[in-house]
Amino acid sequence: MKQIGFFLIVIALGFNSILNAQEAEFSNLLQNIDSRKKVSLNGLWDIIIDPLENGYYSHRMQPKDDGYFRNAKMKSPSDLIEYNFDTSLQLMVPGDWNMQMEKLYYYEGTVWYKKDFKHTVKQDELVYLYFEAVNYEAIVYLNGELVGSHIGGYTPFQFDVTNKLKEGDNFVIVKVDNKRKAENVPTVNQDWWNYGGITRSVHLISTPVSHISDYSIQLSKGSTNTISGWVKVNNATEGETVTISIPELKKNVNAKVQSGKATFSINAKPILWEPKNPKLYEVIIKTNSDKLTDSIGFRTIETNGSKIVLNGKDIFLKGICIHEEAPFKSGRVTSVEECKILLNWAKDLGCNFVRLAHYPHSEAMVKEAEKMGFMVWSEIPVYWTIQFENPDTYANAENQLTEMISRDKNRAGVVLWSVANETPEGVARLSFLTNLAEHARKLDNTRLITAALDTQSQDNEGRLIEDPLGKAVDVIGINNYCGWYYGAPESCSEIKWKSAYNKPMIMSEVGGGALFGLHGEKNERWTEEYQSEVYKNNIEMMRNIDFLSGLSPWILMDFRSSRRPLKRIQEDFNRKGLISEKGMKKQSFFILRDYYLKENN
Ligand code: GCU
Repeated sequence: MKQIGFFLIVIALGFNSILNAQEAEFSNLLQNIDSRKKVSLNGLWDIIIDPLENGYYSHRMQPKDDGYFRNAKMKSPSDLIEYNFDTSLQLMVPGDWNMQMEKLYYYEGTVWYKKDFKHTVKQDELVYLYFEAVNYEAIVYLNGELVGSHIGGYTPFQFDVTNKLKEGDNFVIVKVDNKRKAENVPTVNQDWWNYGGITRSVHLISTPVSHISDYSIQLSKGSTNTISGWVKVNNATEGETVTISIPELKKNVNAKVQSGKATFSINAKPILWEPKNPKLYEVIIKTNSDKLTDSIGFRTIETNGSKIVLNGKDIFLKGICIHEEAPFKSGRVTSVEECKILLNWAKDLGCNFVRLAHYPHSEAMVKEAEKMGFMVWSEIPVYWTIQFENPDTYANAENQLTEMISRDKNRAGVVLWSVANETPEGVARLSFLTNLAEHARKLDNTRLITAALDTQSQDNEGRLIEDPLGKAVDVIGINNYCGWYYGAPESCSEIKWKSAYNKPMIMSEVGGGALFGLHGEKNERWTEEYQSEVYKNNIEMMRNIDFLSGLSPWILMDFRSSRRPLKRIQEDFNRKGLISEKGMKKQSFFILRDYYLKENN
């Protein structure tokens, strides 16, 4: 049966790769906004909560022209205007709305955000309105005019608003809607809280008219002594010079711009980035009118059979999964300080790897992880049973993948792009995910492609990995909850694993729940003792898997999920953390740490 299915897939794949033959384009996103001139629009924004989308649709459910985006004001006492942002509620940006207002805790729907700001128009400048992330759908207006929209809650987007800005007073309005829909990515069910809002920072970024828009600077694939890449210059003069300098390596090259792009390669022998020495080099990119500075690491990442090979040496990925849940205050992480708290806990655990689940985390998180020497698994929320047959869903997923790779392509710390988590086998699913994997490779052939599977079958000897998706990825992630969703903890150590693939496997999820401070017999669910048994026996199981190249248990810290209502235990939290949401380390934290510090180092 699998053979016929596979044959059908080859036909489908053949057809789709014809579709995908064209050049894969990076997103139109300004690279490295940290190095650019910008004004923050963070802070308190006026809001209107609009469950019926009355600010957008008429009573005939037709988009209306005088919606809330007009920010209309009464001009005469008899005017009828039934909304007013200035006398309305306020929310902090960045931030989710669920944790800021009790009445928005469970809210899924539309909230209108408005921000007033002053602007000075400069002739020799372009201005971009840049959102680091808005969950889920954002429709953006400036001074009452539509500038654009975006779907996908975890990747950045921008609009050129140069011609829409006025001298002096301006206002931006965003219709944010986090309603879950079957065709969305993710789809209607997810085991994390559907935090809505303008969850990451908003900027007005100014650039010279002719400016460096994007670049890629990495070691050439498989080389440790050639740094190559390209620089895109918007509104460039054909043939103008771009200079790429790496002062510490005494490297300075000039490259000519042809149709807006300059390519280059530099012979150099950089100290290679690695967890024990996360070496980053200052890189300066200059044109006549623009200059950017970045901190870039250089490393190679490959596979060799079942081994993951960093800089030519086999490496075991000692990891942990992390959700973008803020420690102590809960809700979405909104500051680099919170990123550092999470990453320092992972450091305490003895990790050299973090799986950022199940969506691209903030740019700050990825940069901090890289600085601290963590190899990073970054993933798009193709999670559980999305609509694999729906071409719009595919386009959405591919766009989120493109935005993720576009933003972080210069981060040496990122070693794995994940295209999915726990998706059910099937023809449409395989074609969907195989195409995503190919698209990722076209954009970036220097990193490994993976996906987290839960499709392993059981035979009388143990577990067998033979999911056809294994063909499309470089590294196979396996989610397996022995001792929690199946089997008694003590049964796990005996389990043997086989794989149909000579490829590295990362145990991308194992674990079990425990309420911090709840103690009892080791067979009592929710006690720290039970969770410890799960960890001890799963670690035993992993010692027997000779093609295991990494591990990232589920999960560093308890996180909020509306699938976890059990009173007095879960209280809306998934309790599989090794640390409680209040920062309390459970027994299992120390069991995993011992495994990482005593073995595999
Ligand atoms: C799944 C899934 C996670 C989820 C976890 C759990 O494997 O990938 O998102 O939270 O299991 O059930 O706790």
